[in-house]
Amino acid sequence: MEPLVRLDNVAVEFRGLPVLRGVTTAIASGCITALIGLNGSGKTTLLRTILGEVPHAGRISFRGGARPVTGYVPQRLVIDSRMPLTVRDVFALALQRRPIFLGVSPAALAKTRELLARVFRREVEAILDRPVDKLSGGELQRVLLALALEPAPQLLLLDEPAAGIDFHDQDHFYDLICRFNRELGIAVVLVSHDTHMVTRHADRVLCLKDGRIQCEGHPGEVLSEKGLAAVFGDKAAFHHHH
Ligand SMILES: Nc1ncnc2c1ncn2[C@@H]1O[C@H](COP(=O)(O)OP(=O)(O)O)[C@@H](O)[C@H]1O
Ligand SMILES: [Mg+2]
Repeated sequence: MEPLVRLDNVAVEFRGLPVLRGVTTAIASGCITALIGLNGSGKTTLLRTILGEVPHAGRISFRGGARPVTGYVPQRLVIDSRMPLTVRDVFALALQRRPIFLGVSPAALAKTRELLARVFRREVEAILDRPVDKLSGGELQRVLLALALEPAPQLLLLDEPAAGIDFHDQDHFYDLICRFNRELGIAVVLVSHDTHMVTRHADRVLCLKDGRIQCEGHPGEVLSEKGLAAVFGDKAAFHHHH
């Protein structure tokens, strides 16, 4: 099938410095692509370029000619703890076109519960009134994932979604992502440093080095010892933990 997104010789510069160079690749629909590479290799920039937020040279084209509905979970979320937003408020801000001081409409609240129920099991009512800056890493990631599911995406871009969350939560998070991929056919591109998770869950691996695609292919090939050494050099040992 025709890929969902095609990048053709895409290049990005920040203040004259090249950050992405000659990136040519395709993102298949209904598949999980892991994006790997050292810090500074251009992974976040590549996701933001696919989102349409970064001026670039080259060409990005979409199946059917229109950008797919895309959910995005950023690498970092800066939360101002002087403004004590609850989970309920954050969803209201995202789902409603009316001032927050008017409160949450019943329709928006129903939608919020429905979205949260897709990422939390029983804790939905308890999580609604929690301030977002008091959530654990794993809870916050799940809330952000739930937010990215509305409007229903064809493509999910997840930037290091599991960084800083514990192993139990990570497993649950990857299970969720795989379920969304398999059951809803959502294409997923996820930045990860965890070769174990990538091997287990990704269908394809794309690795960046200094803004170029160093290699891409099946996790088994790319994440072989030889493949890893080519991408990470002698830092490979740090990324190999099983
Ligand atoms: N907004 C920006 N302005 C200037 N330089 C940036 C900006 N965003 C990223 N960069 C630079 O681009 C390079 C790639 O960054 P990034 O895409 O965040 O890499 P990664 O996500 O792989 O760590 C880095 O050298 C970074 O300093
Ligand atoms: Mg990054």
